[in-house]
Amino acid sequence: MLLGDGITIQELQPGASITLEAGGDISTDNISSIDGVFALAGGNITTLAIDAVDFVSLDAGGNINTGAFDPMTEIADAAAERGAWVHVDGAFGLWAAASPTLRHLVAGVERADSWATDAHKWLNSGYDCGFVAVRDREAHRAAMSATAAYLMQDAAHRDNWEYVLDSSRRARGFIVYAALRSLGRNGVREMIERCCRLARRMAERLGTADGVEILNDVVLNQVLVRFTPPGGGDADAFTRQVMTRVQDGGEAWMGGTTWHGMGAMRISVSNWSTTEADIDRTADAILRAAAG
Ligand SMILES: Cc1ncc(COP(=O)(O)O)c(C=O)c1O
Repeated sequence: MLLGDGITIQELQPGASITLEAGGDISTDNISSIDGVFALAGGNITTLAIDAVDFVSLDAGGNINTGAFDPMTEIADAAAERGAWVHVDGAFGLWAAASPTLRHLVAGVERADSWATDAHKWLNSGYDCGFVAVRDREAHRAAMSATAAYLMQDAAHRDNWEYVLDSSRRARGFIVYAALRSLGRNGVREMIERCCRLARRMAERLGTADGVEILNDVVLNQVLVRFTPPGGGDADAFTRQVMTRVQDGGEAWMGGTTWHGMGAMRISVSNWSTTEADIDRTADAILRAAAG
């Protein structure tokens, strides 16, 4: 996504992976009106749209379909001019920062007001394990904190329940601690880089076959693949069919998506234990399924 004159938006669908809050209130009306601006702009975010908002939530740290990153420095400049709060949804993409060779993808992310990322994706922890980092501690606390007579607040100490939605929760932090402690800085970097290398390997293996098209630039760990039937015909239906065949074969599982109006197989390499042999075996299974 680019903000500024001649702005274009790539990857994000209007109203889907971007949330814009006008006037400080989240309400369907506000969101609809911003969607209206999207519609008028033909799917592009324009300065007109951004003028109307004071909160921008970006799927900026690794697009769910393509792994693409938005130019965060430009977004931060545009937001700063208007005093907007910039939130980065870095569910898996923020982990690129762990690698010196991928870190450039998240350049400018340090200028955001808040980040969210998940441990249950690339860190391979159990589900529902995520982080948020908010620059303005008071804004964060004010948004999350609840009061009740039995909830004893003590200004001298940080109470963690004041920074999350739930008052009670299990010790998810322990799992994250254990994962980080066992992997170490180098282990995290190696895992992220390996998954990205394996995604490229998958794209190379598949992309040379007839009737197989890699739709995205494989910049991270995501690969979007589309299949055309051997004799020509409905590529959306055939792509779904190929996915079902692979899933039914039990060799591998991958989900589907629609990207720029095209049905695609969505491969996301994020498991710590995936090897080159797994990629080759999966690619073979996919190519067999595409051959009919
Ligand atoms: C970019 C992005 N944001 C948000 C989510 C949703 O995350 P969660 O399942 O933790 O709610 C995902 C999940 O795939 C994602 O990739």
